[in-house]
Amino acid sequence: MILKIALLAGDGVGPEVLAQSVKCLNAVEETFNHHFIFKEAPIGAIAIDKNGTPLPDTTLKLCQESDAVLFGAIGDPKYDNDPDAKVRPEQGLLQLRKALGLFANIRPILSHPTLLDKSPLKKKVINGTDFVIYRELTGGIYFGEKKLNEEGTKASDLCEYSEEEISRIAHLAFKAAKGRKKKLTLVDKANVLESSRLWRKVVTRIGESYPEVALDFLFVDNAAMQIILNPKQFDVILTENMFGDIISDEGSVIGGSIGLLASASVGEENALFEPIHGSYPQAKGKDIANPIASILSAAMLLEHFGLNEEAWAVKKAVDKSLKKGIVTPDLRENSQYGTNQVGDFIAHNIVDIEDDTLMNDENIDLGKSTII
Ligand code: IPM
Ligand code: MG
Repeated sequence: MILKIALLAGDGVGPEVLAQSVKCLNAVEETFNHHFIFKEAPIGAIAIDKNGTPLPDTTLKLCQESDAVLFGAIGDPKYDNDPDAKVRPEQGLLQLRKALGLFANIRPILSHPTLLDKSPLKKKVINGTDFVIYRELTGGIYFGEKKLNEEGTKASDLCEYSEEEISRIAHLAFKAAKGRKKKLTLVDKANVLESSRLWRKVVTRIGESYPEVALDFLFVDNAAMQIILNPKQFDVILTENMFGDIISDEGSVIGGSIGLLASASVGEENALFEPIHGSYPQAKGKDIANPIASILSAAMLLEHFGLNEEAWAVKKAVDKSLKKGIVTPDLRENSQYGTNQVGDFIAHNIVDIEDDTLMNDENIDLGKSTII
């Protein structure tokens, strides 16, 4: 398959983790005989410095002309601490999501058997967790009208949703649930918000076309509690933009590190794949950022194009790095492996899918491996 992939490395550790995904995609090309054409473009703080805007027209054009976008990270502390900043790096990502029509953000939350200890939650609570969040991505309070009075003493952000915006992502979420454990939970705040009541109405109606899927509802405050009390109760969670942003970071605690969580953002015509973590500026250039979330996002890219065997090879290589302890320090204290080495290890194991000669599950203790 020939795929045109736009690479938007962005800020902070974005370039470092994205480089590991490219290594892995190169390994996939070599092993499965595909051709991926990569083109890079600036976005975020780097683009503001260079072009005065977080999303230059040329970047948007490249994304529109590509089959998929692989995204690194966005954000820079110099803007976070300046409430008066007129342009912000994050605007680049938000504008891009809107311009590409990426209305559904899909975030799988899984516990990994070898990382149960990394979560502050009890093993018995998280072991076996496997759910996916369908977060609406181009509507709600993120994109509603913003107001600030002249004195700068009063501000508001409008949360607005149309039936059409709700229904297109609801269909995707119900279809996903149909292929999984057949349960869909709508997370909202229908006891307070009019927009949430519209979500309930529309989702309930759409649910009638998916009789095999059990539909239930949770208020977001309760959902925030349930996700850490009993995450195994969930299969597909459907929710609006802001609630999805918040509960997906919460969900990452189950996996043991936010550095593991991948996501896909899809629309009618475009698709973008990005780790859910931020730009982690403290780690920039230190070769310590976990590249796995980015690599798993690349696996989601492959799945999006039906390259399931290829995606499986990537995930299997990631599993191997976790099992062998070839991981960055967020997953194993004092790990001697950096971002680059973990990327190399995973890419190598994609090429040599069956090559288990160097490894022996029984004989190599976690952390003692000297394979690289
Ligand atoms: C995310 C991020 C973004 C969001 C930021 C960087 C604008 O937190 O993708 O979850 O809020 O959507
Ligand atoms: Mg977020």
